[in-house]
Amino acid sequence: MIAVALDGPSGAGKSTIAQEAARQLGFLHVDTGALYRAIGLLALRKGADVTDPAQVLPLLPEAEISLRFTPEGQRILLQGEDVSEEVRTPRASMAASSVSAMPEVRRFLLELQRDLARKNNVIMDGRDIGTVVLPDAAVKIFLTADPKTRATRRYKELIQKGIDADPDTVLREVEERDYNDSHRAAAPLRQAEDAWLCDTTDLTLAGTVAAVVGYIRERAGI
Ligand code: DC
Repeated sequence: MIAVALDGPSGAGKSTIAQEAARQLGFLHVDTGALYRAIGLLALRKGADVTDPAQVLPLLPEAEISLRFTPEGQRILLQGEDVSEEVRTPRASMAASSVSAMPEVRRFLLELQRDLARKNNVIMDGRDIGTVVLPDAAVKIFLTADPKTRATRRYKELIQKGIDADPDTVLREVEERDYNDSHRAAAPLRQAEDAWLCDTTDLTLAGTVAAVVGYIRERAGI
């Protein structure tokens, strides 16, 4: 099996690029952020304080989280219920960010991720795939773009969805999330030493996909 680890900060376009690259290569696209989002949602539903491990961790043994793969992309199930849309709300995003800093939560999700990579050719996107989850991945890519570019992309996406947004606030949030993701103690966001740094600041979406697919083909010999 061939594993591609695709890491990088929020808003670098990982999911969109991984989805399209996986389609072209016939690989499974695994979006690992959805797993943390599902735990965050579970905690919210149970009325837990999502920042308090003493309230979140006791929920893990009863958490049933699974992924389904469809031609349109991945679906996430929590206790058998499809929560793919609900995990995208700002509340669930905040909760995901909090619970993802807890080492026990990360450990809880580790085997599920590794098992998928054992059984399928995958492009797995996240923050710690090349460093922790699949350190032996055949291909590692660290996708980034400067914070201003990522904030502008995010701002346009929000406006397109009809969500009111302010460009300066979006930029501040992007910078805040970068800081939190790269400074947490548990599996902080960092580029694996053997990862290829792909900076998409001056690339279009199609250009990035072509570069990523080309790199995977070359590295994996396919
Ligand atoms: O990629 P995303 O925005 O859906 O991720 C949601 C949250 O989960 C985000 O705060 C980062 C965290 N995350 C993580 O810590 N490790 C991963 N492999 C994927 C996501």
